[in-house]
Amino acid sequence: MGKTLQPSHYGILFYAKNQKELKYYEIRYPHKRDRKTGYLLKDYGGEKALLHPFGPLVSDVWTDIHRIKHNKRRDPHPCQLPIHLLERLILMTTNEGDIVLDPFIGTGTTAIAAKKLSRKYIGFEIDKQYVKIANNKLIRIQNNSRIGDSWVSFYLEEPRTIRNSDWELIKDYFSIPIDLRDIDKEKITLKKHRKLVKTEQIKVLEIFNKVAANSR
Ligand SMILES: C[S@@+](CC[C@H](N)C(=O)[O-])C[C@H]1O[C@@H](n2cnc3c(N)ncnc32)[C@H](O)[C@@H]1O
Repeated sequence: MGKTLQPSHYGILFYAKNQKELKYYEIRYPHKRDRKTGYLLKDYGGEKALLHPFGPLVSDVWTDIHRIKHNKRRDPHPCQLPIHLLERLILMTTNEGDIVLDPFIGTGTTAIAAKKLSRKYIGFEIDKQYVKIANNKLIRIQNNSRIGDSWVSFYLEEPRTIRNSDWELIKDYFSIPIDLRDIDKEKITLKKHRKLVKTEQIKVLEIFNKVAANSR
């Protein structure tokens, strides 16, 4: 191609088997903040109180997910993608139990993302070494990327992608500033969601025990 502009984007194509099966769910990502001060990067002026506490809806350009920079997190594959990139795409276009197919799966990123979100997966890969690496990683992956009962995507223990429609179901798992205008300096944080899940399970057990005792 000769000399050209340095590409700073990566295109991802997704297709459904037929038009009727094409799903699309609105996705939110966390507000962008200054790394040192923690303040919001965008100035929302007098509109801060109207902001969504989690973050904005994603557009068709995603600038919050970066290529894998650290060698210790990389496989010996020149174009391995970050798992949470594929998780976002999968949350946006599929439901639990759906089948995700990646015909050029490399070291398995799409399959790993699908498994973490409890989707089924199929991958094609021409290089046997990559297939081996993918299978070795997949064995260790669990399908537990959730807050409460909602599937979400984490990166470094922080939720990076949620479905807009799940916010009402998961918002109680977050510490949110009481006055939303403080959102510019105060990041919302996730309370210990796994512990909360356990507490819920205990509650269900208590109710179950009560019902059982009453019916005796
Ligand atoms: C861009 S890489 C995909 C990387 C992948 N997204 C990941 O994160 O690991 C494309 C992959 O397609 C594989 N590939 C190329 N031609 C293929 C073919 N005809 N059938 C199956 N796989 C093929 C290559 O070996 C390479 O691993």
